[in-house]
Amino acid sequence: MTENQNDSFAINPLFARPGEAKNAPKYVLGEQEMLAETAYHIVHDEAMLDGNPRINLATFVSTWMDERAERLYSDSFDKNAIDKDEYPHTAKIENYCWRVLADLWHAPNPANAIGTSTTGSSEACMLGGLALKRRWQERRSAAGLDTSKPNLIMSSAVQVCWEKFCNYFDVEPRFVPISKEHKVFDGYDLDKYVDENTIGVVAIMGVTYTGMYEPVQEISNALDRIQSQRGLDIKIHVDGASGAMIAPFVQPELVWDFRIPRVVSINTSGHKYGLIYPGIGWVVWREASLLPESLIFKVSYLGGEMPTFAINFSRPGAQILLQYWAFLRYGRKGYTAVQTETINVARYLAREIAKLPDFTLWNDASDIPVFAWLLSENPERRWTLYDLSDRLRMSGWLVPAYPMPVDLTDVIVQRVVIKNGFSMDLADDLLEDIKKQVDYLNTHNHVTNSSTVGFHH
Ligand SMILES: Cc1ncc(COP(=O)(O)O)c(C=O)c1O
Repeated sequence: MTENQNDSFAINPLFARPGEAKNAPKYVLGEQEMLAETAYHIVHDEAMLDGNPRINLATFVSTWMDERAERLYSDSFDKNAIDKDEYPHTAKIENYCWRVLADLWHAPNPANAIGTSTTGSSEACMLGGLALKRRWQERRSAAGLDTSKPNLIMSSAVQVCWEKFCNYFDVEPRFVPISKEHKVFDGYDLDKYVDENTIGVVAIMGVTYTGMYEPVQEISNALDRIQSQRGLDIKIHVDGASGAMIAPFVQPELVWDFRIPRVVSINTSGHKYGLIYPGIGWVVWREASLLPESLIFKVSYLGGEMPTFAINFSRPGAQILLQYWAFLRYGRKGYTAVQTETINVARYLAREIAKLPDFTLWNDASDIPVFAWLLSENPERRWTLYDLSDRLRMSGWLVPAYPMPVDLTDVIVQRVVIKNGFSMDLADDLLEDIKKQVDYLNTHNHVTNSSTVGFHH
């Protein structure tokens, strides 16, 4: 390199350096190297054009953590969670975490429970579903019965991960439709859906579309009746992606977890109301015997044997440490305070939105800090919630509008997910903007039929 070229790297102002003054290579690997700082700015600046996570009310995933957590994160982003031999303390901390959850969810004897971290609830649900399927297969095979047609019962409003599970692992999904009378799957008509090939029933604590809880106890009661009439003993997996970290703190009296004997496994997303940055999830079985041995791989470390059950192999270990940090930092009292404050903001917003004549609430954040609303009847109105979503996006708010699931697809709702870090002040700002945009739409009263912020998770 000549002295002159060297100078041009050294003294050129940042945005006039080679690599920044022209377009960066995108779809092929560039021939030349680039200064680290230049490359940093190119990537940083493109990502800067994304929405602002803190006012992304579409996602359930944590968008704020304390600086001390961020320090721990950067201390440990080089640790691979699967290297249990090399990082036995991260492995131990993983065990502390699922044991904490087994206890929080009232496993009869947490020391006999078993659990694991995952990349999120999707992987956790796959593992829960696989355990249900394998137990059913082993039971049927031992009795010399056919195992070719497993089915799983769930609401039509399940998160897509359950449809993936059924698709990827050859299980027939049987959807119980929700309706205006049965806004959530509540065990009604369950008898029609189950048979000897049913591997289990999924109950959702915090339905993605609306945030409403499915009444696990009622679903279990319906299964008790089915067992006494037809002899089918069908177990429940609770998908507590969001609610399993809300209910223990905000509705401690609600019985939805391992206190119900039919509940064999529960998952949650550490990165949702577990208050951790993405991606971490958890799944816990009420006792180790419910997780078929044939699914477990043994990894030896510290002279012992470490059972692992996962779909991914390598993945970040940092989030496991962050989860333990959060458990230590908040404790029961702190989680209760944070979740209560978050739900207070959501309920306040729901009450204020309900006062606006254009809207009718679908639900009011009485379960998790999530609620949805629809447009009230008004034949004169020429705009939709998609238009409102677009207009809110102009000021940065990401508030999705989308149709409800099958049988209710004519109902379009708009939803907000309130998370730790979304203050009462921000809620007031959002409210002000919603009112302003509704006024605008009513004044201009136009149709655009545009699409909107994607429906998340
Ligand atoms: C009920 C439910 N289950 C599963 C998931 C998937 O969770 P994750 O995004 O952690 O994979 C979600 C995500 O929103 C959810 O709401």
